[in-house]
Amino acid sequence: MKYLEVMIDEQRCNKCNYCQVAIDCPGVQLCTGCDACIDACPQEARKLKYTDQESNRISCSVNGLEVQISERRTVLHALDKLGFEITQYPAKEDAIFAPCRTGGCYSCAVLINGQLRPSCITPVHEGMVINTQIRNQPPLRIVTGFQGHHVGGVGTPKDLVSRAPLGYLEVACFSSGCTHRCSTCQNWQITYLSHVQPLSPVATAHKLTEKRKQYQVDRMAISGGESTLNRRWLVQFVKQLKKLNPDKSARIHVDTNAAILTPDYIDELVEAGMTDIGPDLKGISLDTFTIITNQKNEELAEKYLTTSWNAVKYILDQYSDKVFLGVGIPYNSAFMSLDEVNEIGSRLVEWDSCVQVTVLDYRPEFRARAVVRPSYKEMLQVKNVLEGTGLEKVICQTSGGYIR
Ligand code: FES
Repeated sequence: MKYLEVMIDEQRCNKCNYCQVAIDCPGVQLCTGCDACIDACPQEARKLKYTDQESNRISCSVNGLEVQISERRTVLHALDKLGFEITQYPAKEDAIFAPCRTGGCYSCAVLINGQLRPSCITPVHEGMVINTQIRNQPPLRIVTGFQGHHVGGVGTPKDLVSRAPLGYLEVACFSSGCTHRCSTCQNWQITYLSHVQPLSPVATAHKLTEKRKQYQVDRMAISGGESTLNRRWLVQFVKQLKKLNPDKSARIHVDTNAAILTPDYIDELVEAGMTDIGPDLKGISLDTFTIITNQKNEELAEKYLTTSWNAVKYILDQYSDKVFLGVGIPYNSAFMSLDEVNEIGSRLVEWDSCVQVTVLDYRPEFRARAVVRPSYKEMLQVKNVLEGTGLEKVICQTSGGYIR
């Protein structure tokens, strides 16, 4: 196997330094080809190429067996070569679920020399001891940005806004790592972050509870990145948050793209204490979904899209009396037609005309700097189309605030 190397396009690189600040990287000279900096670069200034040099072999131990693997690769690459099943959609218990591949979610974490580390970005080293059996380890993931919020996410009941004390509606934290690669990602600085210490569910719940006290609100939210990626972590976090906030007024809110949110996962979150959820539906057609998310694998894109719609239906069918559901829809005429908006509204109305729908005006962000933010008039048109389908609670985000 040849060595991989990251090439930087100096014409595109604007020296923003994000790759240095955000990505836990061994350095260009020791590039493992993990791809994290390529996904994270807002300028798309990086790509990988193979060098002419054959890589050396090194010895490691995997689950107690001595193995020979190529150096300057990640632990995930090595496990893949050794025949472990690696997936980007939840599969068998013993498969390694690696949905973000940028070091944030820790779903792919294994024990490396006794420490839980994300296998997708950790380079292999001579003598490394790797153990994939981690069920007894407390889960970790990167969570940052603990703060008060004035308006909340799409899963926040919007009629609460005017009643918020001190102008704050909820407190939130943001988890790193995502299934998607949206060029319009509005939280990209968090999504690709892998260079900070991960937190346990208990530590995160304590930090968010502290924020609740500080901001004097009842609502506590987790968003991302994608909050659901590390299931064991999220369920334990919600349970812990519930334990620390046993009062009836406490609300636990999960904002999600719902791409892996299967019915059994929803059941587990509700049982743990989740009270509010905001799934984002990134289109109804596969074409729109792949344009927005940049998901190149069509089969995977279809699974993610179907899972997200099924999640909305399942929550409406099973938990409408127990969980507040607010659905998010992105809009920009560059990637979604009004016909598709109409189709989305019509599908939701068949299920429940009272469901809260928040349309987010996708604006120039991350890699999509050339996109034009929809005007107020356009968003009003989107609102009219959705209301025309029979939806009763449509909110549109605009440059001038929310239209209700
Ligand atoms: S898949 Fe490795 S950290 Fe998310």
